[in-house]
Amino acid sequence: MPAHDTSQAFSLPRIGLGTWRMGEDASRRGAEVAAVREALALGYRLVDTAEMYGEGGAESVLGEALAGALRAGDVRRDELVVVSKVYPHNATRRGTPAACTRSLKRLGLERIDLYLLHWRGSVPLAETVGALQDLQARGLVGRWGVSNFDVDDMEELWALEGGADCAANQVYYSLGERGPAHSLLPWLQARGVPLMAYSPIDQGAIARDAPLAARAAELGLTAAQLALAWLAAQPGVVPIPKAVRSAHLRENLAAVERPLDEATRAMLAERYPIPSRKTPLAII
Ligand SMILES: NC(=O)c1ccc[n+]([C@@H]2O[C@H](COP(=O)([O-])OP(=O)(O)OC[C@H]3O[C@@H](n4cnc5c(N)ncnc54)[C@H](OP(=O)(O)O)[C@@H]3O)[C@@H](O)[C@H]2O)c1
Repeated sequence: MPAHDTSQAFSLPRIGLGTWRMGEDASRRGAEVAAVREALALGYRLVDTAEMYGEGGAESVLGEALAGALRAGDVRRDELVVVSKVYPHNATRRGTPAACTRSLKRLGLERIDLYLLHWRGSVPLAETVGALQDLQARGLVGRWGVSNFDVDDMEELWALEGGADCAANQVYYSLGERGPAHSLLPWLQARGVPLMAYSPIDQGAIARDAPLAARAAELGLTAAQLALAWLAAQPGVVPIPKAVRSAHLRENLAAVERPLDEATRAMLAERYPIPSRKTPLAII
């Protein structure tokens, strides 16, 4: 059996745990490792990180938590989807495997399940795709994908040899940022490419939206839960909220199991409309 098998359909868990802002401050490390451990014990099976986050600090927090969780039997390695990202300036023929090796070391793993180009830089896309494919062929990466790619970037990728092997596009998508629903999300859905929705609760802002909170309360939900339930109900969309607080971790996991009735969906569509024309992809 090869180290990777791209003939298998690639499916992601319904929700993931973000780790941006983790690993930046040594005094918070213990709480962050504990939060990731708790998330894994609760049932999160996708964790999202990047070499950029805390310049390796978030990967190292994740590595410590994963080692503890695997040792304790909270989770099996084959159930986990570990996602990391390469900086655009590292995404060259030689730089990509070097960055991946550094990430693997910090994560304490032999494979990154999904390795993304964090955003487009000046390295030719074909060079990056070749480097990612090599990593996949060597089994160091399970699948590869992209982040912050708009429709024109995706079209360019699809025209490259092997470009259609891209397994995900991670973009800013939330109730507060509806742009991708205009054309990027339909483009991805038509090709069966998951959209990983980053900043799905608008970095906490949507949780403070009073009218949304009032509507959510009628359903027995918080505003953040309603925002996540709405995302997870869309085909191919996987929200990856970041949370450290235990209550947030629990709330967010429970939210994606909640179906939404037609009246709630209609209210959200009216209050947070899809832009009538294509807008540039928002990037945080
Ligand atoms: N590819 C990219 O370019 C890119 C860009 C941005 C983000 N990302 C990824 O996406 C992940 C999520 O995005 P994000 O961290 O920017 O923002 P986010 O997940 O929308 O928001 C995180 C903030 O919301 C708070 N929060 C979490 N759950 C909550 C709840 N149920 N109620 C109220 N507040 C809640 C968190 O607080 P506590 O932590 O205190 O619990 C934290 O302050 C990142 O961590 C990262 O992995 C990727």
